[in-house]
Amino acid sequence: MASDGGTMINSKAASIKAELISNKKAGSYNHMVFSVGELAAHCKPGNFVAIKVGGPTSAMVLRRAFAIYRASMRSDGMGLLELVVAPYGNGSKWLASQEAGSVVDVIAPLGTSFGIPVEPVNALLVGGGYGSAPLFALAETLKQRGCRVDMVLGASTAAKIYAPLEGKRSVNSLTITTDDGSAGTMGRVSDVLSQLIQENEVDVIYSCGPMAMLQAITEISTAHDVVHQCSVEESMACGIGVCMTCVLPVQGDDGVIRMTRTCVEGPVMDGNRVLWSTSREIPDGVWGK
Ligand SMILES: Cc1cc2nc3c(=O)[nH]c(=O)nc-3n(C[C@H](O)[C@H](O)[C@H](O)COP(=O)(O)OP(=O)(O)OC[C@H]3O[C@@H](n4cnc5c(N)ncnc54)[C@H](O)[C@@H]3O)c2cc1C
Ligand code: FES
Repeated sequence: MASDGGTMINSKAASIKAELISNKKAGSYNHMVFSVGELAAHCKPGNFVAIKVGGPTSAMVLRRAFAIYRASMRSDGMGLLELVVAPYGNGSKWLASQEAGSVVDVIAPLGTSFGIPVEPVNALLVGGGYGSAPLFALAETLKQRGCRVDMVLGASTAAKIYAPLEGKRSVNSLTITTDDGSAGTMGRVSDVLSQLIQENEVDVIYSCGPMAMLQAITEISTAHDVVHQCSVEESMACGIGVCMTCVLPVQGDDGVIRMTRTCVEGPVMDGNRVLWSTSREIPDGVWGK
């Protein structure tokens, strides 16, 4: 699995003032584009950013984490960073309400990135809600490596599926599931996975979305003996490895289960190594408990 930072903060990370270039509504989300200079060249699919929210006098001291949807260097040397933001609580609502021309404080890129195979493989990309954000740039990278790329996107309802037209072009097939049946197949992403794994002879699953979805995918990937790289979205208070709010129990190469910081040793992790649980209790068998 690729890791820029190992157990340290991503070595390419920097804190910058980024100008908002555009902010457009897309279904339930805001597609936001920032000018970040040459930092864009260091961002890889799976990395995330931590943004200061609320303005200079705000009591919201914790930065908010967002997956990088796309990062690119334009021919004129301008570096762009794109995010897909769901206005949810006070911080993300503040961010989504910013207008072009405003400047925000961004730390980027943070965390690990998706591991890219050296040889072409059959890849299945699975996203839940805004969890589709980092998967489109990943799909392009995998296609450039000669991989077959199938994608499944799921959400509670159609407006929460983020699947831009240009993103769809970079995949061999796109399957949509919604809980209420307002788009695609009625049900959950996990309902369609086994069939797709078999039909497309999938070698690796890449996923991003809510914890319960990642747990369900891990059960299926284990049953089919398929590699599962997932990007976890555990709550993060600092995003840079110092506060320990983002820890998950993860089994290391040595077999020992440790509470692992998902902001520096993740968010991309080997799903088959995570001890998934909906409770926040430290499970028995964890080192140091
Ligand atoms: C790696 C990663 C990628 C993400 N990518 C996206 C994305 O692409 N798009 C998107 O819309 N959202 C994304 N999110 C979710 C996004 O970070 C949250 O929706 C956002 O932080 C909510 O902030 P809020 O102020 O709107 O909500 P609020 O609920 O008002 O505030 C949440 C704040 O409380 C903190 N917090 C919550 N629980 C705890 C806890 N147990 N201990 C300490 N602090 C806590 C959080 O760190 C956060 O700062 C991502 C999250 C992570 C971790
Ligand atoms: S969010 Fe603080 S250590 Fe990970």
